[in-house]
This record gives sequence, structure tokens and C-alpha cells, in this order.
Amino acid sequence: MKFALRINTINDQQTNSSIDKREHLYKILVIGELGTGKTSIIKRYVHQFFSQHYRATIGVDFALKVLNWDNNTVIRLQLWDIAGQERFGNMTRVYYKEAVGAFVVFDVTRSQTFDAVTKWKTDLDTKVTLADGSPIPTVLLANKCDQPKEGVVNNPARMDDYCRERGFSGWFETSAKENINIDEASRFLVNRILNNEKQGMMMTESLDADKFSVDGKANQVDKSGCLC
Ligand code: GTP
Ligand code: MG
Repeated sequence: MKFALRINTINDQQTNSSIDKREHLYKILVIGELGTGKTSIIKRYVHQFFSQHYRATIGVDFALKVLNWDNNTVIRLQLWDIAGQERFGNMTRVYYKEAVGAFVVFDVTRSQTFDAVTKWKTDLDTKVTLADGSPIPTVLLANKCDQPKEGVVNNPARMDDYCRERGFSGWFETSAKENINIDEASRFLVNRILNNEKQGMMMTESLDADKFSVDGKANQVDKSGCLC
């Protein structure tokens, strides 16, 4: 008898809390060159796990991260882990559809992966936008910051300029290996997405490549982060 009463109490609590809680499901893209650490960042973020072993992603993988954002809000991030080799494929238009945010990842030890960031960002902006035509919030991740860095990433002021020019919301140095800045970068992106939702801009559109111009659409970079 006592046991049955307790179950009723728990059920009541669950019902009340599910009425009160707002739930959001956001599709987030993770893109960038081969071997930059996209899968490793997601594995660290979702499963608190890191492996040195490299196994290239084929096509796309998925992961779900549930964030208890505040007492009233649960956020589910559907992370689309897109293979580096997909930039040369023609599936990205399908993968990008209805995304509301993105990470572009490069490897701080290989400056050619930074050189390719512009191509990834342009590809993204030509294939998906917010309802008002502006780019979806995108954060640049300078990954493997536990290693010696090569190129522009050594100059934070130039990185800030680059991000402003290219329409990135901000950038972070990250390490999937040492678990540096991944939570912070994600919180930053989610805040941007929530702001867009408040302003009613969340409906995303898939675009025809030939209709699009990237000129004059840069977001302001209001934060760069490095805790390395
Ligand atoms: P594709 O699926 O081919 O596009 O590659 P990816 O971007 O998913 O790269 P992945 O996460 O598979 O990592 C590639 C290699 O880099 C693996 O050997 C990882 O262990 C290593 N790696 C990833 N992140 C880090 C990091 O933060 N620091 C260090 N030192 N190594 C890392
Ligand atoms: Mg991968």
C-alpha cells in the first residue's frame, strides 16, 4: 500500500515537470576537413570519451546531447557529424537542411585545414540560411590545442578579424583530448540559437547555390575564447 502511494507521488511529479518544461530540438552541423577532430569532439562532448585511434567517418554520423539548460528548459542537440571527405561529395545540401547552428572545425597543427575553413563556410552559407536570409550561427573550433600550433591561429587578433569577415559568431581553441572549451563553445552556440528563436528567425531555408551571395552578411564576432 505504502509502495503504491509512493509511485503515485512520483508520477504526479513527472507529469507536473513535463508540463512546466520547455523542450527544444536543434539540428547542429559539425563540418571541416578530414581528421580535424569532429568525431572526437562529439564523442568527448556526448560520451566523455577520447581515443587516439583515427577511423574516418563515412557520410554522416549522429549523436544526441541533452542539456538541462535551466529549471524550465531542456535542449536536445542533434549533432550531425559530417565526414571531412564530404566537401567533395554532393550530399552536403541534404545534410545541411533545417540545421539551426554549426561548428566548423580545423586542426591547429595543420594550417591547410584552416585554409579550407572558408570553403566549408561558403558551402554552408550557400546551402542553408535562417528565415531572414542571414547565415545560421556558426562557431569556428581550432581543435587539438593541446599540440603545438601552426599559422594564423597563433595570432588571436587576426583570428577575430577573420571570423568577423567570414561571418562566424565566434571561435574557440578546443581539445577533444584534454576536454578544453567544448562545453563553452556549445553553450555559446546554443545562446545564439536561442536568441534567434526569440526573434522568430528559426525557420531555416535550403537554398539553390546559384541564388546566393555571401557579401555583406557577416555576423559580429562578440567573443573569442582560448583557455589553453
Ligand atoms: P573525418 O571523419 O575523416 O572527417 O575526421 P574527424 O574530423 O572526425 O577526425 P577524428 O575525430 O576522427 O580525429 C582524427 C584524429 O585526430 C584521431 O586520431 C584523434 O585521436 C585525433 N584528435 C582529435 N582531436 C584531438 C585533440 O584535441 N588533440 C589531439 N592531440 N588529437 C586529437
Ligand atoms: Mg569523423
